[in-house]
Amino acid sequence: MARSYRILVLHGPNLNLLGKREPGTYGLSTLAEINQSLEKLAVHLSCELSTFQSNHEGELIDRIHAAMDKHHGILINPGAYTHTSVAIRDAIAAVSLPTVEVHLSNIHKRESFRHHSYIAPVAIGQISGFGPNSYLLGLRALVEYLQLQSNA
Ligand code: DQA
Repeated sequence: MARSYRILVLHGPNLNLLGKREPGTYGLSTLAEINQSLEKLAVHLSCELSTFQSNHEGELIDRIHAAMDKHHGILINPGAYTHTSVAIRDAIAAVSLPTVEVHLSNIHKRESFRHHSYIAPVAIGQISGFGPNSYLLGLRALVEYLQLQSNA
């Protein structure tokens, strides 16, 4: 039986409006639907998720700090904080938990201010452009990474 990993799933600002927000860019799935599909996959991967969304940088940082000693990894869509937040980057570096960065849209295909991520250098990797599937691919990648680490 595979080990059960505890994963913190963080959604950044404005992602609470998914489904209504710029559907041409972000699609019609709501955040609740994305969380439900993550939960389904988590059962299959036998991992446990804690999910949290906030429009406030400090609240996201508090959750990252609290994940230390409680979670094995972090799946994060930092939203616009991707492109602005040295503080979230530093929090991820501080807790030193394997982190996967995900985006619904392909940030590299969009405005140039979205091309830079402060999070990418402290993440295992980034998955961008697959809509809600970015989250599912990200969770698979994170769990496989943790499994490989524990077998090493
Ligand atoms: C996003 C991309 C960011 O540039 C943007 O600010 C978001 C959503 C995405 O999932 O595509 O809020 O992270």
